[in-house]
Amino acid sequence: MGVTLSPKQAVACQRNGLDVHLLDWKSIDSTTFGPFDGIVSVGAFEHFCSVEEYLAGTQERVYESFFKRCRLLLPAGGRLYLQTMTWGRNAPAYDDISLSARKGSNEYILAVMQRAYPGSWLPAGEEQIERCAAPYFRLVSRKNGRRDYIETMNRWDRVWKWSPRKIVPALKMLPCFLTDHDFRYKLESLRNGYNRVCFIREVMDHQRLIFEAIEPS
Ligand SMILES: C[S@@+](CC[C@H](N)C(=O)[O-])C[C@H]1O[C@@H](n2cnc3c(N)ncnc32)[C@H](O)[C@@H]1O
Repeated sequence: MGVTLSPKQAVACQRNGLDVHLLDWKSIDSTTFGPFDGIVSVGAFEHFCSVEEYLAGTQERVYESFFKRCRLLLPAGGRLYLQTMTWGRNAPAYDDISLSARKGSNEYILAVMQRAYPGSWLPAGEEQIERCAAPYFRLVSRKNGRRDYIETMNRWDRVWKWSPRKIVPALKMLPCFLTDHDFRYKLESLRNGYNRVCFIREVMDHQRLIFEAIEPS
């Protein structure tokens, strides 16, 4: 059973026989579906805190509330697998991220990515995540997936190589390109592989964490 905020993803999953619901995790409690044996979250946690929440100092409250909710749905000893991007050791400070920064710098690349993919602020790192989970979960396994993610993106590049078959879809995107200023940032980010650059430069990192639900104290 899965939840997503994307109507198109929900429909595609349902069409393929999956039990997927269009729901925010914030609206799920133990009465929504009942308890679960385990929970898996892949590539969603990094979207849970908005830039506004980060600036208001409530990032950890968002994460604590997620762990609390997951704990309510699991038995003691039940496991939560969490895969998420985090900021890396070379991430610039929020105030330094700017489109006026030197082109190609970490500060400039992140400013472009914020325009292309607005709305999220990443977790600071695995220590922050572990701290927020601590009242409900104990960390039992941790793996850094940064290099795997770079390899994944290299392979996506090979699959998505330019071919004449892509002319029609590309032409369909032309109106967006001409009218939506942020769409240009998306293209710039994709064309230059900014996401991959961030992983290579350790501006972003990637964690795979397994937690085990503890007895309530
Ligand atoms: C970048 S996608 C990755 C998801 C997954 N790995 C996949 O391949 O589909 C992020 C996912 O997180 C989901 N998501 C983000 N915030 C959510 C929330 N508050 N409640 C439920 N789903 C959420 C989005 O709907 C989206 O499906």
